[in-house]
Parts: sequence; structure tokens; C-alpha cells
Amino acid sequence: MSDRYALIGNPVAHSKSPWIHAEFARATTQDLEYDLLEAPLDGFAATVQRFRAAGGKGLNVTLPFKHEAFRLCSTVSERAQRAQAVNTLVLDTGFGDNTDGIGLVRDLSQNLNYRFRDVLVLGAGGAAQGVVGPLLEAGASRLVIANRTASRAKALAERFPGASGQGYEGLAGEFDLVINATSAGLADQAPPLPPGLLRSGVLAYDMVYGRQTPFLVAAEKAGARTCDGLGMLVEQAAESFFIWRGVRPQTRPLLARLRGS
Ligand code: ATR
Repeated sequence: MSDRYALIGNPVAHSKSPWIHAEFARATTQDLEYDLLEAPLDGFAATVQRFRAAGGKGLNVTLPFKHEAFRLCSTVSERAQRAQAVNTLVLDTGFGDNTDGIGLVRDLSQNLNYRFRDVLVLGAGGAAQGVVGPLLEAGASRLVIANRTASRAKALAERFPGASGQGYEGLAGEFDLVINATSAGLADQAPPLPPGLLRSGVLAYDMVYGRQTPFLVAAEKAGARTCDGLGMLVEQAAESFFIWRGVRPQTRPLLARLRGS
């Protein structure tokens, strides 16, 4: 029987992860299955237990369970500890890791050839928490977190020496990378950025994938280079695959196919 893996979340229906992992498995000749597992909002731990009891080897975790997954683990990686969130579970050992941040960093540096300098992260929720540490480690010389609720941005920045936090008003200076880590795009809204921040020479990156968010539309209009989070999705999947199987799949061919190029 093939080894079993799944993405657990709520909702999970439209995820591309099963297709991505099936392609990784084919390319690396690994014998595994990867399914979708929707857990009730109050039934995350029980659903994990059932999957494990049925022989499940590992899980990817998505919204809204990344914090709960972190608390459920017996050991976690340093990067998961820093993010206080887990997106990758190894079920026989109870180990948890977080591959979101490294996924974003790899997409930016390897697929988009970005060299880390002045970085602005929009949002201070779960998505932002997972990426601030890895962005600093990747060499960002300045990292500002801006959030609608300024106190959340300040509290997040305090956990990461080298980062600073504030509200949107008064955002100043030049950034060469602006990352939208808010959930505003899912409601067809954009974070209220002061005019002038998005311009030619800036890379505007939305961690959401598969839709042209108002943030990306505004960035394109302002002459910035734009990118959605599809590459991050593929890169975080590759890192999870490596954790589970000890084999690192190639990501570029897959990303090109997903982008239809
Ligand atoms: P996630 O895990 O997806 O980050 P979250 O923890 O609920 O979800 O955080 C959502 C983030 O998007 C927050 O930073 C939120 O700002 P607040 O902390 O001020 O609520 C941000 N956000 C959501 N909708 C937004 C909008 N319309 N404009 C600006 N920021 C928004």
C-alpha cells in the first residue's frame, strides 16, 4: 500500500496541493497518495488522530489550524517555534515544521531572482508571522511590518530583532519588495497603502494565489512588477515533501506547467 499524506484544513476543496504532491511523487518515483482532509472547526486533533490511526504518515496543515497544529506537536523545528505555527506534520514522531517562510524566500530568490533589501510586509496575522523570520534570515536589510491594527504589527515586530511595526498611515521610505500577507484580497479588498509606495522598480507579491487581487491590480497600474503566491505554494510543498521523503523534487518545471507557460 502507498504511504498516505493529506492536506488538512477548512475549507480545503480547491487546493492544488494534491496535484502538486502527485507530480512530485511521479517525478521522484516515490510511492505515495496525497488527499484532502476537511476537519470540522472544533475537530482538528480528532481528525489528525483518526488519519494517523489509519496509517497516515504526514499532513500539511492550512487555515485555520496552523496554531493548533503547533500546539499538538511533541517537537517542532526552530522555524516553526519562531512562527508559532506548523504547516507540516510527521505523524509517527509528532514532529512539526513550518515550510511557508522558506517557500516564500525560495520563490523570491530562485524563481524571481530577487535580492533581499528593503522589505515591507503588509499584515500581522498568521500568514505574516510565518514569513518575517525567514525574510530576515534571507538578508533583508530593512523589514517593516504594516498592519491595519498597528498594535498587532508592533507586537509581531518585537519578536523579531531587525523588524519594526506600524500602521499604514505614515509609511515612508523606499521599499523594493512589498508583500501582501493580509487576507484583504480574499474579500476583494486591498490594504490601504499610501500612494507612491508601489511604483516601477518594486516587486509586489501577494501570498494569495490564483486570483488577481486588488493589491496586484493597483501594483500593476503603478508600474510595479507583480507576482501571486503560486510559486510559494509549490516551494513550500517541495520542502514538506523533502521533510517526509528525504528527496527534494524540482519545482521549476511544475511551476511552469501550473502557470501554463
Ligand atoms: P491570516 O492567518 O490569513 O493572516 P488573520 O490572522 O485573520 O489571517 O490575519 C488577517 C490579516 O489581514 C490581519 O493582518 C488583518 O489586519 P488586522 O490585524 O488589522 O485585522 C489583515 N486584513 C484583513 N482584511 C484587511 C483589509 N480589508 N485591509 C487591511 N488589512 C486587512
